[in-house]
Order: sequence, then structure tokens, then C-alpha cells
Amino acid sequence: MTAFRTLDDADVKGRRVLVRVDLNVPTDDDGRVTDTTRIARAMTTVGELADRGARVVVLSHFGRPKGRDPKESLRALAPVCAEILGRPVAFADEAVGEAAEQAVAALGDGDIVLLENTRFHDGEEKNDPAFVADLAKLGDLYVNDAFSTAHRAHASTEGLAHVLPAFAGRTMQAELEALAKGLETPQRPVVAIVGGAKVSTKLALLENLVTRVDALVVGGGMANTFLLAQGVPVGKSLAERDLAPTALRILDAAEKHSCSVILPVDGVVAWEFKAGTESHAYGLDAIPDDGMILDIGPQSIERVRAAIDDAMTLVWNGPLGAFELEPFDRGTVEAARHAAERTRQRKLVSVAGGGDTIAALNKANAVEDFTYVSTAGGAFLEWLEGKPLPGIAALSLAAERARAAAGQA
Ligand code: 3PG
Ligand code: MG
Repeated sequence: MTAFRTLDDADVKGRRVLVRVDLNVPTDDDGRVTDTTRIARAMTTVGELADRGARVVVLSHFGRPKGRDPKESLRALAPVCAEILGRPVAFADEAVGEAAEQAVAALGDGDIVLLENTRFHDGEEKNDPAFVADLAKLGDLYVNDAFSTAHRAHASTEGLAHVLPAFAGRTMQAELEALAKGLETPQRPVVAIVGGAKVSTKLALLENLVTRVDALVVGGGMANTFLLAQGVPVGKSLAERDLAPTALRILDAAEKHSCSVILPVDGVVAWEFKAGTESHAYGLDAIPDDGMILDIGPQSIERVRAAIDDAMTLVWNGPLGAFELEPFDRGTVEAARHAAERTRQRKLVSVAGGGDTIAALNKANAVEDFTYVSTAGGAFLEWLEGKPLPGIAALSLAAERARAAAGQA
């Protein structure tokens, strides 16, 4: 039994449905959206609700405004949504109050309105019951389709699930199902690939993963900290020297949980942090004192490929090298392509997400082939850390309440 209710359980025709999506997308200096992935995914749910005759009220935050700030208005997003949907999307200047109430009252079945940035109101981030009540007035049902904000206990991501019948949207559902396949009920062996610059930002995640997965590949700058802890000189490479004891503790925990940790055995070294600069691969016994490791080397790539071959399930977060600078994207790109190929051959379930990860997988053209690539940053990391996400917990509670009520009827 799933722990949450989906759109299959909701009777939406003619009803006002408050849908929380994540339109917090990257934009350029002129406010133009530079990546529509999140919007496109959210519109799957919005489109289905409209097709089924709901009166759809779309909620989202944008940026981290302090009060009302025109630069962080959602107004410009309404036409972007409309274009993806092929339907008109109205806009209301406020998330609550008269403007919002009038816009919602004007909706016919199948119509859609986007409300202004929920974070323009203090009550959003405070999860203030009065603000929750003002939002709740605008809907008969609540659909949460924003996994990427599920780590926030805000009014529109958490509070509403306690006061309206609550359901997971299609993107949320797909995300939760994919994540369950990745770590909760995975086919074993499971390998995790964790990269990125620093151990310090991923401590909790590494500590959780070594207890859950069969093999952990560590790459990126954070691998240098592990190497250093083991007495390998890493020259001028990025490394957190003070975290050496922590790295050793993580290796101990891994051993205790029979998780093999796959560290680089060679590195691509350069003398400048810049694309196209001179670089050479060195074994760990020969890293030059004056150089920096900017990517895993060819022998390490072979090991990562072999680890992927041994796995039935892959969970990936973070690049293995300085992937934004060619040729230091090579380790990340080759590993991603290999995982994509294994997934295409149906030999691997591959789940990835968090921060730079989409950009890195995009470089390898691997996103389409992965089983699931999450657009979530912080929420994906907290999930990898094994933390309960307030937005998900509230949906499960709502489902329990509904089941209990049905049992009593
Ligand atoms: C994100 O972009 O990761 C989500 O939209 C959450 O945004 P926040 O970190 O500002 O809460
Ligand atoms: Mg963010």
C-alpha cells in the first residue's frame, strides 16, 4: 500500500484544486527562464487536472524574497506555463486575499490560475496557521507536486496537507516511486556515486549511504580528503585537511556495514583551474606537489564502470571532477554514459539528483536514459541523508487520516 494518495484517488471535476508546484527555475539577467524542466514536469499534473474539469489554482514560491519584490514575481511564468500546456493560464497578483479570491471565483471547470509568489507573505515560511487558512479558503482539495520543496515545512508545502484532503501530484508520485526503487526497496547490489567539491557539505549523506548501499564510489574534490586521510599526498588539490578524521570514521562505518568504498586510484592533474589547460594522469604515488587533481584518471574510470556493471541499482549525486571545465568532465561523462547504457539495456535502475547533477548528466546526454533524474536540490540531498521530509510526511499523515475516516464510515 502506498503511503500517500494520488490523483487516481481524487474526484476533481468542478472542484477547486490548490496545486503546489515548484516554479523556482533559473532565469537570466532579463528574467527569461533558462531551464524549463521543472515547469514542464509540473504542467503534467496541472494539465491532467484541467483535462479532468478541475478549477486549478497553482501555487509556487520563487527565489528567496524578503517581502514583496517585483524581481521575484511569478507573473512572467504564467505565459511560460500556458505555452507548455497549450491552454490559457490566468495570473493573480496575490497568493491570498481579495485578488486571489476573485481570480479563483472567476474560474470555470478546466480553467487555470497561477497565484503570485507565496513567499511574498511572511506566513508562508513560518507555516502560520492564519496564512494556511487563507490559502485553504481558495481550494477544496490540495495537491502537492513539488518534491523539490518537500524539505521545507512551509504553509504551501506542508501546512495545507493538514487542513484539506491532500494528494500527491503525478511528478511527486513518479519521484517518490523512483526514490523508493533507489534506496528504500532497491534491487541489490546498490552502488552510490557521490561527487562534488566538499566532504563537509555531504557528511550526513555519506554517513547514511554507507549503511544502506553495497558500494560507494567517491569522486570530485571530496575524494581528495579521503585520499589525504589515508596518507596520499594530493599536492595543491582541493581538500579539507581538518576533515581527515571524519573521512576515516566514514571509512570505518562503511567497513562495519560491508559497504565497499571505491576511491580514485589515479587522477588527472593540472596546474591551473581552467578549461583546456595542460594536464596529465598520474597514479596516486606520483601526484605532483605543485599540481591539482581535477578529475578521476583512466584507471579510476574503469573501476567506476566495473562498479556500475556489478550493480542492479545506482544512486548518483554530484560530479566526479571539475565537469564544468573541459577536459575535466571526462570521468563524469564516461561514468554517466555507461550508466545510461546499462539502464537502456534494462540491466540497471538509475536514479540521480541534487544540485549540479542534472547539469553534469546533461553534458553526457544521459538524462533521457536514466530511470529517473530528480530536479530537486536540497530535498534530494536530505532524502539521501535519510531525513524525513515534512512535505512527504504531511501527505502520508493525510492519507492515514483519510483511511481511518473511510474505515469509520
Ligand atoms: C530549490 O530550488 O531547491 C527549491 O525550489 C527550494 O528552494 P529553497 O531552497 O529556496 O527553499
Ligand atoms: Mg535552492
